[in-house]
Amino acid sequence: MAIFDRLFSRPDFFSLKTWRPGVFVLSALMLSGTGSVLAQSPYLRTSTAFANQAAANADTLVVLVPAGVPVSLPAWADSTREQVGRAMVATQFTGEAASQQEILAPVGLAVDRLILLGVGNPAELPRHQAETMGAALSVRINATRAQTVMLDSTLIADTAQAARIAAEVAHGVDLRNYRFDRYKSEPPARPAQSWQWVVSDVDTARQAYDQLAALAHGVFTARELTNLTGGDGYPAAFAEYARQRLAPLGVEVTILSPEQVLEQGMGSLYGVSQGSQHKAHLLVAHWQGSDDQPIALVGKGNTFDTGGYNLKTDANSILQMQGDKAGGAAVVGAVMALAGQRAPVNVVGVVPLSQNAISGEALLPGDVVTAGNGKTIEVASTDAEGRLILADGIWYAREHFNPRAIADIATLTGAKTTALGTAYSAIFTNQPEIRDSMTYAGELTGELVWPLPLNNYPGIIDSRIADMRNTGTPGAQAGAIFLQQFAQDTPWIHIDMASEALGSSASGINPEGATGHGVRLLAEWVKLFAN
Ligand code: BES
Ligand code: MN
Ligand code: ZN
Repeated sequence: MAIFDRLFSRPDFFSLKTWRPGVFVLSALMLSGTGSVLAQSPYLRTSTAFANQAAANADTLVVLVPAGVPVSLPAWADSTREQVGRAMVATQFTGEAASQQEILAPVGLAVDRLILLGVGNPAELPRHQAETMGAALSVRINATRAQTVMLDSTLIADTAQAARIAAEVAHGVDLRNYRFDRYKSEPPARPAQSWQWVVSDVDTARQAYDQLAALAHGVFTARELTNLTGGDGYPAAFAEYARQRLAPLGVEVTILSPEQVLEQGMGSLYGVSQGSQHKAHLLVAHWQGSDDQPIALVGKGNTFDTGGYNLKTDANSILQMQGDKAGGAAVVGAVMALAGQRAPVNVVGVVPLSQNAISGEALLPGDVVTAGNGKTIEVASTDAEGRLILADGIWYAREHFNPRAIADIATLTGAKTTALGTAYSAIFTNQPEIRDSMTYAGELTGELVWPLPLNNYPGIIDSRIADMRNTGTPGAQAGAIFLQQFAQDTPWIHIDMASEALGSSASGINPEGATGHGVRLLAEWVKLFAN
């Protein structure tokens, strides 16, 4: 247990043991599984509440303004109305979606600041845009001394729409406010406002927000895992952290030791870490919210990628390689979100965990490993390690869970980024239905995907000495076609999100660092595909 001490003694890592006293109650609440369970998170200092009446004592008022609607709340004096009307004319504020206008020291109101937030046509405001608006609003609010923010959604005539949008904006605020500060000896204060929403349909808003808060919690967990340094986030530590997060939600967690990985015959997974002091593990997280045949999510959990003997020689590139566990982190986060939502789906997350490092015992370029399915693989590049561990992860999912579909997600190839940049993840699939549902999940969440082809690359991974080799050209397709050998006839989709996992600066719903990309996509997709 001693090896975990350094990791678990940091704030956040294990909330109930080491949490600062004031927040202890909230962390306990989060795990208790009742009421607004996830409204409080160890990652946030903000709170969010919904009521059908304005609370007293706010220092900031935000009014959600549909396009073309006169801006006036029932309690406002004529002088307030007049000032707001003049300000709107002066700034040409029309309620266009995502527009913001601030009025300082508004006449007749006790608040310091009034912010108008345009929602356009509420019926046509996409979820991810509402979330992004919340993120932008939080950036503005965090730049002030606001402590109590009141948000009024009652100008949106349709009360169900108002509730939905309120929940989504609140979710965007939360997503942006995550901070990775565990390595700061004196972390900057985290945003700490109380956000109080006025909505007509309180129950609908609260339910929608609770579902999204469960999702946010999965995103935070994925970000935390991805952000952990290579030194701290090694396979056993990753697995243990995931267990701490998942088990309290009713997820059945199994962690295979390096010995068990070998016993199962997963020589492809084992080989990648054989030169490291941190040997391979396999994490299995099963949320059985229904009795259907399971859906499997398999995520690349390479906790650091040196490249192995095909060493990464570009200093900037290797410096990002703690992020190579982001696929595995996304799977943990998605299962956590679905469990937190009590989603009626049967989903199993499988995360092969490795550390691609060098020593006298490491794989040599050209070595041959044998995967769980008995196939031999020529390791033409030790830096193409992601597909080696995913091959056994996919095999394990099929062998032990007979899933109706498999989605794998990975920071797999630089070639994907060359083709699509960071706006889209690449998808490859043997089944058009999965392509369509994944594309739709991407549009809902703003985590966009774009298909690349699998067929018509004859001989792309042929090996002279083994059943196949782990490289080929074009690079992203070679990775996908390699993985397809292990999915075989199971409906399967591969998601290559090489460059979406880490952001060099804060943007939209993402603070700087790990984005948790894939959690929202996968959680939505599982629910879409299950129904
Ligand atoms: N983890 C990398 C892919 C990657 C690169 C992710 C940059 C994020 C940012 C992967 O293991 C890798 O090294 N891929 C190689 C494959 C090649 C050796 C066939 C690549 O893309 O160069
Ligand atoms: Mn690599
Ligand atoms: Zn890698």
